[in-house]
Amino acid sequence: MALQVKENIFYSLSNMKDHNHQIYMHSIKVADMAVHIGQKCGLTQCELIELHFGAFFHDIGKLGIPPEILYKPESLTESEWEIIKKHPIQGREILENKICTSNENILDAVFYHHARYDGEGYPDDINGEDIPTLARFIAVADAMEAMVSRPYKATFTYKQVIRELKDCAGTQFDPNIIKNIEDMNPHKVRRILKF
Ligand SMILES: [Fe+2]
Repeated sequence: MALQVKENIFYSLSNMKDHNHQIYMHSIKVADMAVHIGQKCGLTQCELIELHFGAFFHDIGKLGIPPEILYKPESLTESEWEIIKKHPIQGREILENKICTSNENILDAVFYHHARYDGEGYPDDINGEDIPTLARFIAVADAMEAMVSRPYKATFTYKQVIRELKDCAGTQFDPNIIKNIEDMNPHKVRRILKF
């Protein structure tokens, strides 16, 4: 894997931890979950390393969003939502300019982690198999973590998480990934996501 590190990666990690501990913890869990799903789906060792890296930094673009928007319990206004939707673009820029300049798989994973299989995601209307592979894994892991740790809403049980993923296969998520997660070990998933 070709990685050019401009800034000390450990500095970037501790910076994220200090700046926003909630995003830091979310990122650790999403990264471990994405790799677990990637292993179930037979990704190569190189892909798993890239996936872990990309998943860990998938929300780094959120660090610049004001907390009153990021954690607003009420519905967002249109302009607030536009700010939120820019975080994959800003995340890619941070990775490209400050951490990793050369690995397109990782940069694409961050840029497209909110793409939906049906093309209804953001930041653009890419869909299906055109969505970079690693981004499709992060999308599933990100949703799973969100379902079990939502601060303002009722959280899901393991069975509800799996049902929700299956219900959204082919619309929000890559159905080939969802097909492979049905026989995941619930204890392992609970350990990774800490619920
Ligand atoms: Fe995100």
